[in-house]
Amino acid sequence: MTELIHTDHTAIVTGAAGVLGLATSRALIDCGARVIMVDIDRDRLDQLAAELGENAIAAKIDLRDAEEISATAGRLLDEIGGVDILVNNAGILSNNKSATTTPQEWRNVLAVNLDAALFMSQAVLPGMRERNWGRIVNTCSLAGKNGGLTAGTAYSTSKGALAALTFSLAREVAGDGVTVNGIAPAYVRTPMVTEQLTETEQQAVLDQIPVGRFCEAEEFAHVVTFLTHPLAGFVTGEVVDLNGGLLFD
Ligand SMILES: NC(=O)c1ccc[n+]([C@@H]2O[C@H](COP(=O)([O-])OP(=O)(O)OC[C@H]3O[C@@H](n4cnc5c(N)ncnc54)[C@H](O)[C@@H]3O)[C@@H](O)[C@H]2O)c1
Repeated sequence: MTELIHTDHTAIVTGAAGVLGLATSRALIDCGARVIMVDIDRDRLDQLAAELGENAIAAKIDLRDAEEISATAGRLLDEIGGVDILVNNAGILSNNKSATTTPQEWRNVLAVNLDAALFMSQAVLPGMRERNWGRIVNTCSLAGKNGGLTAGTAYSTSKGALAALTFSLAREVAGDGVTVNGIAPAYVRTPMVTEQLTETEQQAVLDQIPVGRFCEAEEFAHVVTFLTHPLAGFVTGEVVDLNGGLLFD
């Protein structure tokens, strides 16, 4: 049974037009939250927000652009009064290893997967600290820990650095009622896996996952619900593995 733990809360979920962002937005709305769904894909965002109902608000932001983040987040905060939960979930994948990584690819992947998480956090943290309550969840990845089985150098680096950002922010705001945690999924059944990996690559990965299947988006959203729960205030600076036993540490 879904607990109405977030009836007084407003959340921002980035990458909300994607598979994990949509599942997360839906789960937080089911818990009573109002969710600002951020993505670059305006058409899909508008359509999904309309489907999720009056507690879903679509906000188009290109997260590669620090000025756009600051301007749009500032306007949203003025309009809605404050954000209690931030899920930095937008991400782009690239599978190129170092030899074939271009400067542009490196910049883009780092901008979306890492820089945007800092800029979004900077926008919401003053209000969270003032109200002495907040939850930030960063979507990291197993690739940030193991160098990337199939993921490339820019992606793995961005996710490792996002875990380090999680620790740094968690330490900075721990005394202000704000927790900052991460989730490190591996191989969720999404187009990132089913379309960007060949059948052979998918099978090779499946052979290595002890649980014997890919993760489902709802299982990811459930971990977000746990980390944002009012009773999770003692969990901070943690990156929760969600990898079906692919890596024990
Ligand atoms: N799918 C997996 O197996 C897996 C595993 C580990 C980590 N992750 C991470 O989970 C997160 C979500 O992944 P997903 O599988 O739902 O991917 P997805 O591609 O379905 O969703 C990503 C979303 O981010 C948005 N986005 C991309 N660039 C943007 C930009 N410049 N500005 C705003 N939005 C932008 C896209 O439009 C998309 O809607 C990502 O951070 C990804 O790296 C996924």
